[in-house]
Amino acid sequence: MDVYNAVMSRRAVRGFTDRGVEREVLERVLSAAAWAPSGSNIQPWHVYVLTGPPLAELKKRAGKRVAAGDPWDEREYEMYPSELKSPYQERRFAFGQQRYGALGISRDDWEARQRTAAANWDCFGAPAALFCYIDRDMGSAQWVDIGMYLQTVMLLLRDEGLHSCPQMSWSVYRKTVAEILSPPKELMLFCGMSIGYEDLTVGYVRTGRASLDETVAFVER
Ligand SMILES: Cc1cc2nc3c(=O)[nH]c(=O)nc-3n(C[C@H](O)[C@H](O)[C@H](O)COP(=O)(O)O)c2cc1C
Repeated sequence: MDVYNAVMSRRAVRGFTDRGVEREVLERVLSAAAWAPSGSNIQPWHVYVLTGPPLAELKKRAGKRVAAGDPWDEREYEMYPSELKSPYQERRFAFGQQRYGALGISRDDWEARQRTAAANWDCFGAPAALFCYIDRDMGSAQWVDIGMYLQTVMLLLRDEGLHSCPQMSWSVYRKTVAEILSPPKELMLFCGMSIGYEDLTVGYVRTGRASLDETVAFVER
């Protein structure tokens, strides 16, 4: 698969089949992704890969919390600024409209939105997931390194015929994730990522993007 194809065919997939993902494939992807760049090559990512019974146990525990209406764990980082200004707020709004609109869920149907969001903690049915941690000492530049790394993983997964969904939503149940993974105290969970083969029966609306002139300036003269 060429790089353009990998980039254009990657999307946040929210429905996977139960077809397992071989350890060998995951090792190949993660070995190649390790070549992602990072400032001074410090490689600040710490990754746990979960499959089989441990992933099933995590989904079960998280599912129980969701069903019980258990409040989210206190945040270790903010997912978004509290006041999302223009044009980000409008883009976020448009995303919500697309995502829930495609499922016939209205803007004020909070319950239906929550039910849909709950699929996050079942990894949308995926048989594999990774959890990416960062050392608490790291600054914003290293968070960027992590982003580059994760995108590299997602593009390589495309080459293997696999899809993914990066999920900050796992950070709200980070203590449950930690029960299964027992990460060292100095690590903070950034996100999870569901990995698997797409369930083609699950519909979706492809998210759009801002036009090039909204986000890029060519300075030539
Ligand atoms: C760091 C990060 C965290 C995300 N967290 C979630 C999440 O918790 N749940 C989810 O369904 N999608 C999540 N997404 C997917 C985004 O909603 C998605 O990437 C965005 O809407 C663009 O759509 P696309 O990836 O399908 O092109 C996340 C994406 C990123 C990069």
